[in-house]
Amino acid sequence: MKILVVGGGGREHALCWTIAASPLCDKLYCAPGNAGIAQDAECVAIGAEDLDGIVAFAKAQAIDFVVVGPEGPLVAGLVDRLEEAGIAAFGPSARAAALEGSKGFMKDLCAKHGIPTAAYGRFDTPAAAKDFIRAEGAPIVVKADGLAAGKGVVVAQTVAEAEAAVDAMMSEGRFGAAGDEVVVEDCLVGEEASFLALVDGTHFVPLAAAQDHKAVGEGDTGPNTGGMGAYSPAPVVTPAMESRIVDEIIGPTVRAMAAEGRPFKGVLYAGLMIAEDGPRVLEFNTRFGDPECQPLMVRLMSDLLPALVAARDGELRDFDLRWYDEAAVCVVLAAQGYPGRYEKGSEIRGLDAAAAVEGVTVFHAGTKAQDGRIVAVGGRVLGVTARGRTVAEAQRRAYDAVDRIDWPEGFCRRDIAWRAL
Ligand code: AMP
Ligand code: GLY
Repeated sequence: MKILVVGGGGREHALCWTIAASPLCDKLYCAPGNAGIAQDAECVAIGAEDLDGIVAFAKAQAIDFVVVGPEGPLVAGLVDRLEEAGIAAFGPSARAAALEGSKGFMKDLCAKHGIPTAAYGRFDTPAAAKDFIRAEGAPIVVKADGLAAGKGVVVAQTVAEAEAAVDAMMSEGRFGAAGDEVVVEDCLVGEEASFLALVDGTHFVPLAAAQDHKAVGEGDTGPNTGGMGAYSPAPVVTPAMESRIVDEIIGPTVRAMAAEGRPFKGVLYAGLMIAEDGPRVLEFNTRFGDPECQPLMVRLMSDLLPALVAARDGELRDFDLRWYDEAAVCVVLAAQGYPGRYEKGSEIRGLDAAAAVEGVTVFHAGTKAQDGRIVAVGGRVLGVTARGRTVAEAQRRAYDAVDRIDWPEGFCRRDIAWRAL
């Protein structure tokens, strides 16, 4: 098969690394890719949001199968466009990707179909949102309706903080049109977990449990990011909890989407709060998590590619994925200043020494090759990923590799996977 992966982050590097190893893959392209992906795929200079460019390239190269990594092109309808052009593509249609693209849609779906989630209100004026906030009191959570790269959520400890979040989203346009509408919801307490499943419209296959760290600071403090690291397995998801998540959340959501005439195909990623009385949905994503994908791919024993094809073809019913028993930990190196302003263009050295540590794979996110050097061009720049017999061993190896990387302009959290230790 000739395969095209769309995207250029750490998730897409992990996907390319995995797909390139499949015996079914004859030729692998990635648009736009990055300096690390270039070792596993031929990178083509087409942005992930350039739908016309991607469809034209896929037609011209007679691509057999497209795997779309990020949410932006999914929500914009890339899979619909490809399928209309006769090209098989992995990922949800735009109507199904609304599960991630509109928090309001997702909350209404949960309410209508009895899927457990926090009580909420949907608002399209700041005044109405603030009335609701004052009536409910704090703590309370304010969310931009649309896509905001994981940064559109404020868990406010006071009413004033929640009102300021409403102003930033709705009046100051912090997230552009994504903030024209907001969801305000109850603050849930418990431990967070992510649960991902491959879905074919009707059937689904759970992936191994993985957990990310969204906050920028150690001890899970400070502003949210796209994710500063991840580990798998996640001990909070016990076998008993896994069957509750499957029965109470994943199954009902897959059936609800089909009932709404929006059958879901692709990766359904449930961000959950494991509350005292059971799992509740915080959010749905409609793609692999980044960086959760990185530890998952190094733990996956089965060939991913036929599973992705089966999801697209509606043939997951008899599918099974096998995983290595080993644990995996991914530590993200980000540019200093992230998730706020950061500089681009600094050189990264020591990548080969890092990759030489046993069990380690260094996935690239925001990198570019320039005059034979690797330079940082993004906020999240590398995902140093290690396998080990235990989470502790995987963590030790990951930080051993991190310490061999010479990049003074970068930083990482030193406590990734602490909840699993
Ligand atoms: P989301 O992008 O919706 O998953 O939200 C990002 C982060 O905000 C989550 O990982 C949680 O840490 C936090 N969060 C979101 N919704 C709630 C909620 N209802 N209660 C408490 N924390 C929340
Ligand atoms: N790591 C969180 C996400 O991919 O949305």
